[in-house]
Amino acid sequence: MKLFLDTANLNEIKEAAALGFLDGVTTNPTLIAKEKKRFDDAIREICDVCSGPVSAECVSETYEALVPEARRLAKLAPNVVVKVPLTKEGLKTVRALAPERIRFNVTLCFSANQAILAAKAGAAFVSPFIGRLDDAGHDGMQVIRDICLIYRTYGYTTEVLTASIRHPLHVLEAAKAGAHIATMPFAVFDKLISHPLTDAGVQRFLDDYRKIPR
Ligand code: G3P
Repeated sequence: MKLFLDTANLNEIKEAAALGFLDGVTTNPTLIAKEKKRFDDAIREICDVCSGPVSAECVSETYEALVPEARRLAKLAPNVVVKVPLTKEGLKTVRALAPERIRFNVTLCFSANQAILAAKAGAAFVSPFIGRLDDAGHDGMQVIRDICLIYRTYGYTTEVLTASIRHPLHVLEAAKAGAHIATMPFAVFDKLISHPLTDAGVQRFLDDYRKIPR
C-alpha cells in the first residue's frame, strides 16, 4: 500500500520523506491556505521534496475554466496530479484531458457509483472521503470496500486513494480492503510508527542492558 501525506506543510513533508516512507502528497485549498504561500510556489516546493505524485486542486467551477486551469497546474512540475471535483464539469475535464497524459485525482468522492464514473472518465486516482462520510453518519470504509471490489471486478486501473483519514484504524481497514493508497495528516502518519508496547519494550531492554556487567 502506498502512503501519502495530506498536507501542504513542507516541514512535515520533509520529515516523512527523510523516513523513506513518503509515496506522494495530496493538497487542497484549505491545506495550502494554512501555509500562507502563493499557490504555485507551495506546489512547486512540495514537488521538489517529494518525487511521487503531488495533487494540486483546481478551483474553477465550469468545464470551460477547468480545462485551462488543469493544463496550467499540470505544467507546474512533472509529478503534479491535477485534482478536480467529482462533478459533471470535473468528469468532463478528465475525459477531455486524460488523453493529453495529464493525470487526474477526482476528489470529493462519496459513493461507489461516483467512483465508477471517475474510472470510466480516465482518472488516475479517485479520492473517497471516508472521515467526512463517517462524520455524516455513513460507513466510509464500506464505500472503500465497494469501490475496490468493483474496480477489481471490471479491471479498472484507477487507483483508490483513501482520503479524509482521521486515525490509524482507517489506514488498516483501507489496506485490508485493498485500497492502493492512504493519504493522511502527519499526526496519523506518526501514529503508524508508534506503539506504547514498542516504547515500553525499548525502555525495558535498555534498563536490563545497564544491569549487565561490562
Ligand atoms: O484529502 C482530502 C482531505 O484533506 C479531507 O480531509 O479531514 O478535511 O475531511 P478532511
